[in-house]
Amino acid sequence: MLVNLSSMLKDAHLKKHAIGSFNVYNFETIKGVLESADELKKPVIVAFGEKYLGNMDLNTVYAVVNSLAKNISTPVALHLDHCKSFEHIIQAIRAGFTSVMFDGSSLSFEENLRKTAQIVSIAHAVGVTVEAELGALSRGDYSNEDEGKQIYTDPDQAEEFVKKTEVDALAVSIGTVHGMYKGEPKIDIGVLKAISSKIDIPLVLHGGSGTPQATIKECIYNGICKINVNTEISMYTVNKIKGALKSDTNYHLSKVSLMEVKYVKEVVKKYMNMFYDA
Ligand code: 13P
Repeated sequence: MLVNLSSMLKDAHLKKHAIGSFNVYNFETIKGVLESADELKKPVIVAFGEKYLGNMDLNTVYAVVNSLAKNISTPVALHLDHCKSFEHIIQAIRAGFTSVMFDGSSLSFEENLRKTAQIVSIAHAVGVTVEAELGALSRGDYSNEDEGKQIYTDPDQAEEFVKKTEVDALAVSIGTVHGMYKGEPKIDIGVLKAISSKIDIPLVLHGGSGTPQATIKECIYNGICKINVNTEISMYTVNKIKGALKSDTNYHLSKVSLMEVKYVKEVVKKYMNMFYDA
């Protein structure tokens, strides 16, 4: 069953856990994420980033996710991750995505607010939820996100932004990075607490890969109810497949494809359990 983020995140917010939002790039990653949700009986967000449009087009992503989601018993949201283009947002909505993220984090505050509000009014007219971002994350190891400068979210700006745009969820910058951490993660729970005291919509943590369980727990306790994971899915799976191919060079591609699903599931399940057991 495909749903938008509203009920899923409200429930998570109330019960103090987070829903995992896992990036997919092809059939195998989609299958791995959905089978994990089904086996653990947990709701899940399948996230497809604008930067992977070279791998799959939006209509195909929708067709595959919609078809596989029919066989599983837990709610699934299909979310467009980190999208800077207005055209791609509209195309995703038209393709059947139930949720979109407009990433205006590189724009001025005013421009981000103006464009986000415009997208919210269009998306809400057809029941699609919108996530926006204020502040910016820097890039750690193994990530293919854009290089960014860490800018922590300003709590007062967040309050004004949410009031004026009516977004459904807000991605905040509190010290996590896109990719694996280069040193000790420096997460500012104080900033998160200040944001949470001013707004009551679900907050989103980007840069989930490698974030310690204790930090995840504190973040969830202070208002985070959607956590994004991308890099570790890719890094772990590629390393495992690399190891297998080294020991046996006669693998058939169909077998490599099954390995990919298996290793994606190991990462996704680890984080799903972590986000619920917090
Ligand atoms: P990581 O690549 O650090 O897991 O971050 C993922 C993310 O935030 C995608 O939006």
